[in-house]
Amino acid sequence: LRVGVVFGSRSCEYDVSLHSAEAVLANLDTNKYDVVPLAITKEGAWLLNVTPEELHALEEKPDEKEHIQQEKAVVLAGDPTVRDLLSVRNGKKVAPLDVVFPVIHGPYGEDGTIQGLLEMAGIPYVGGGVLGSAIGMDKEKMKIIFQSINLPVIDYLTYRYTRWAREPEAVLTEVEQKLGYPCIVKPVNMGSSVGVTRADDREALRRSIAQAAEYDNKIIVERCLNIREISCSVLGNEEPITSPLGEIVNEENVVNDYDLKYVHPTFRLDIPPAGISPQMTEDILRMAKQAFLALELSGLARVDFFVDRNDQRVYINEANTMPGFTSSSVYASLWATANLPYPQLLDRLIELALE
Ligand code: DAL
Ligand code: MG
Repeated sequence: LRVGVVFGSRSCEYDVSLHSAEAVLANLDTNKYDVVPLAITKEGAWLLNVTPEELHALEEKPDEKEHIQQEKAVVLAGDPTVRDLLSVRNGKKVAPLDVVFPVIHGPYGEDGTIQGLLEMAGIPYVGGGVLGSAIGMDKEKMKIIFQSINLPVIDYLTYRYTRWAREPEAVLTEVEQKLGYPCIVKPVNMGSSVGVTRADDREALRRSIAQAAEYDNKIIVERCLNIREISCSVLGNEEPITSPLGEIVNEENVVNDYDLKYVHPTFRLDIPPAGISPQMTEDILRMAKQAFLALELSGLARVDFFVDRNDQRVYINEANTMPGFTSSSVYASLWATANLPYPQLLDRLIELALE
């Protein structure tokens, strides 16, 4: 089976993707699979048989990158179908891929774009389809779907950039009146907490919205409660299964931003989370499955929840359709405790893609 592993791309989560892909490439069983790494540069060029390590090294050497780009470019040649785009190298055909594992986080990969390309090419792929991936990337539309099936979401407001640019004071006042401080500001379409900040007063809110707006033209502001963060891994297609729950525990009650998650990680993962009742566990597992089905996801998702420390209420935060995917990431760690080690998890995801 020829498995294409695609990573990188024009996303702010480029670095996270390289780490995830490195782990996937190191753990796909080479007795079973003929593995083809497909790197996408920060500019969006596709390179055949370039590993994450090589891609990373290339970013430091612009001259060499230019050369490799010409040498290894995946180019459209001959019969101009999308399938050829993924199976042609410098005019010489290589065997088409049987399945693709898009190990890309964030826009241009986790959001339905590469999924659309693979649909057009007729190549099966791991993870959610076009619709589920697109909705899973849009925190506003995802919440609207959760609300439509009565899953509890934390209070939020969303703004288009044009509205913010036109009447910033009115936006700030509305957030103050409807949500109050503290609140959390996020770009709607992004992951790994890129562009996410907490605001405790009007000036901080102004800065936070301006910062989030650098990443997306839609901004979401959420009420900030004193919460615990609980995650559940979901695996399957139309009859998904759920993993044990895990809790991301920070030393201090800080917003889990990109830096904390990836640059200087300080959190630990508690499996199972302490003091969560059997009833609450059951509720969260049920909601994780409902969310997966409501968003029409396939293959995998990590569904994140908040538990309010004050009143023990549970809120669904979001589903991540291509969660951080190293062997020590939350998604894989939760399955490892359920006797599904990382290499077998990869096998299962490929099986699910081919179903
Ligand atoms: N967006 C990152 C990769 C995550 O959800 O794990
Ligand atoms: Mg996310």
